[in-house]
Order: sequence, then C-alpha cells, then structure tokens
Amino acid sequence: MPTESKAKPAGSATLTYGNKTYDLPVYGGSQGPNVVDIRKLYGDSGMFTYDPGFTSTASCESDITYIDGDEGVLQYRGYAIEDLAQHSNFLETCYLLMNGELPNKPQMSKFHDTVTNHTMVHEQLISFFNGFRRDAHPMAIMCGVVGALSAFYHDSTNINDPAQRQIASFRLIAKMPTIAAMAYKYSIGQPFVYPRNDLGYTENFLRMCFAVPAEEYKVNPVLAKALDVIFLLHADHEQNASTSTVRLAGSSGANPFACIAAGIACLWGPAHGGANEAALNMLREIGSVDKVPEYVKKVKDKNSGIRLMGFGHRVYKNYDPRAKMIREQTYNVLDALGKRDEPLLKTALELERIALQDDYFIEKKLYPNVDFYSGITLSALGFPSDMFTVLFAVARTVGWIAQWNEMVEDPQQRIGRPRQLFTGETSRPFVQIDKRK
Ligand code: CMC
Repeated sequence: MPTESKAKPAGSATLTYGNKTYDLPVYGGSQGPNVVDIRKLYGDSGMFTYDPGFTSTASCESDITYIDGDEGVLQYRGYAIEDLAQHSNFLETCYLLMNGELPNKPQMSKFHDTVTNHTMVHEQLISFFNGFRRDAHPMAIMCGVVGALSAFYHDSTNINDPAQRQIASFRLIAKMPTIAAMAYKYSIGQPFVYPRNDLGYTENFLRMCFAVPAEEYKVNPVLAKALDVIFLLHADHEQNASTSTVRLAGSSGANPFACIAAGIACLWGPAHGGANEAALNMLREIGSVDKVPEYVKKVKDKNSGIRLMGFGHRVYKNYDPRAKMIREQTYNVLDALGKRDEPLLKTALELERIALQDDYFIEKKLYPNVDFYSGITLSALGFPSDMFTVLFAVARTVGWIAQWNEMVEDPQQRIGRPRQLFTGETSRPFVQIDKRK
C-alpha cells in the first residue's frame, strides 16, 4: 500500500490455481476484518475476482464510519451511534463526519453560521420546480434539482481546489433541506417557505415543510428532536449502495452536485432508501394485529415474492442499532401527539415479536432495520410516505459529502472500473436483415 495508507501489513494469503501459486498481501485496519490485496492479481495471473454485489469486497480505505454487523455496532469516527444520538445533534454530527473530530464551542458556532448562511437557493431554481408535474415523485424532483445545482454554483465545481470542495460541501448540507421542503410544498400546491436562520437545522426544515404564510408556525420541540435523531442515525453508513454510487461517480472527476444527484437516484430504490416507504405501506396493507400471522406466512413462502420490508440487512446480522433508537423516538412522537394507540405501531410491534421468534427469520438472521419504525414516526410527524426517502437523502448528504471528500483526497484513488465474467456470444458474422430468421 502507498505510504499514506494507514493499513497495517498482516501477512499474506496464497492462492493456488493450476500449477501456479500467487502470494497476496493481507492488510489490517484499526478494527474489522483484514483484507486480501488483489490489485496485482490480474496482472500476475490473468484472472479477475468475482463478487457480484460486492459482498466480500472492500472498495476503499476509509476513516469515517465503522459497522460490526454481527454485533450490531455502528460508530461515526469512533463514537458509538448511541452516544451521539443521546448527547449530540445532527449538525454537530455533520461536523464530526466531515472533520473527523467533535467541534469545540467556537468551531461549532462557526460551522453553524456557515451552514445557515448557505440555506437559501438561487431564486431561479424555482423555475425548475415549476417544470415538474405537481404529482411528480419528490425523489424525481430531488434528482433533477440537485443535479441542476452544478449549473448555478460554478464557483464550487472544481474538485481539485480544496476551497471549492469545502464550499460545495457546505452548500449541499445547507441547501438540501431547503430543496427537499420545496419539493414537498410544490407537490401539495403550497407556496415555498424561505429558510429562517434563527432556527436550528431541523427546526428550520420542519418550518419550511409545514408553515404557511397565513399562520404563525411553532415548532414542537419533541417532534424536532425526533427528526434530528432520525437525521443523525441516517447521516452515514460506510460503503452502502448510494455512497458507493457517489464515490464511483466522483472517481471520474465529476463535480460534487452531479455526484450527490447520482447518490440520490440510487437511494430511491426500495431495497435501499425506499424501504421505509415500503415498510409503512406494508404495515398499512396488513392493517391490524390479527392479520400479522397470515402475512408472516406469506413472507416465508418463497413463491409469494413478498419480503418483510424493514427487515434484514446486508451487513447487520443482528438488531440494527438504529432501529432501537428510532423505536424510542416513535414512542416520544406518538406520546407528544397523543397517538400512542396508533394501530400501525401495534401492528409493527406484533410483526417484530412474531418474526423474532420464528425460525425462518432466526436462521437467516433477519432483524428489524432502520426503516422498520422510521415510516411510522415520519408519518406521525406529518410527512406523506413519498417524502420519506427525501428525508433520508437530506440526512445522508453529509455522509456522501464526507466520503466523497475522503475519496478525492485519497492518493490511492483511481477511476472506479469493475470488470466482468463474460458469458455472452463470442465472435460471430454479421447477418443482413433480409437473411435473418
Ligand atoms: N424478508 C424475508 N426474507 C428475507 C428478507 C426479508 N426482508 N431479507 C432477506 N431475506 C431472505 C432472502 O429471501 C434470502 O433467503 P434464501 O437464502 O432462502 O434465498 C436470504 O434472506 C438472504 O437474502 P439476500 O437478498 O441474499 O440478502 P441481501 O443481503 O442481499 O439483502 C436486503 C439485504 C436489505 C436487500 C434484504 O434483507 C431486503 O430486501 N430487505 C427488505 C428491504 C429493506 O428493508 N431494505 C432496507 C435496508 S436498511 C436501509 C438501507 O441500508 O438503505
């Protein structure tokens, strides 16, 4: 590894194929599994490795987020997610993810001021919203509008200039809630609400979503706290699909706004950020506690093609630590709104109870993930389900940015270019159209 790498040599592995043997260096990080370095394997042996879905592949070296899926551990820059959720807040966690350390008071105050000074968007961006149908999915709007930012902020698209990268990072973190709230307001035909910089990050976002010019809007602190915790829990999750998308897009030298738009597009899928919307729809479809056993039976039937949404994770083979903390916020929000008897919560609790005792889920190590309870909470906060993934995108932006910056600064970084196991037709002669069957 290059001298800048923090990885430590940890011996070597031997691969034998035919009558040849290849020695492959092994490296260790600060925690987590060691890695076998296969970078020279193709040059030495003419063979690729094969790993669809990257289940055994570390695509980069990173200092940001650590997950131990078997133990249900999640850390940002070494801090346990539970400690951050209890003692920190989303904006402070943004500072941590971006800079590697928790800020002292002056650093935090400066960071807060810088973010709030960038919350407004170019007024002409409004014409982009007007170009969308009112019933457009807000994630479609997010992909388009965030991608369009590179056409508005030319002075922060040169990725080789650290100052430009920094300003682009601030702009994205600051403007994402404004754009997300505008996407929501547009979909319901209400006027856009401009940001107010005397409010905190999450309070401001709630106000931009739910205030109307005709009335005073008071932010409920319990609801704001719950959303802030949800944002914090979603802020980063190492090399997941959307983050890897951001890194892959960025590896070609694309500007940060384009890269984050690519991340948003990836996040939209139901197997990733779209799962909380799907989980809530599933709870609504089940309808009541007595229908849960029947639904679980359908999930276990391979032919049904039904999965328990909000359950299972590529990395967590234990209870997702984020799910526990979101469940706590679900209770707080429902209590604050006097809705503790919410039937969706009862259905979710029963589904979790039954699934956690069932051999199918136990054997496959399927536990509730971050999306299982977030839908109920976000719905109680007043968001329609098609906004859930948008909220995830708002929160994940800082993770994407931190990972993108880390990649750009990494001396080992090269354009991402996976190879393939080709199984298609080999060379064949071209047949003229009138001679084809
Ligand atoms: N319900 C029922 N069976 C499941 C589920 C589920 N939710 N998840 C996995 N399985 C089964 C699957 O059928 C397979 O069984 P078999 O070995 O008999 O074929 C086995 O468990 C392994 O599944 P997999 O699809 O190979 O696992 P994966 O690591 O590729 O998938 C996952 C991870 C999250 C896509 C998957 O668990 C899933 O589809 N969950 C539901 C969607 C969801 O909640 N997604 C949110 C993920 S957390 C937020 C985020 O990171 O964005």
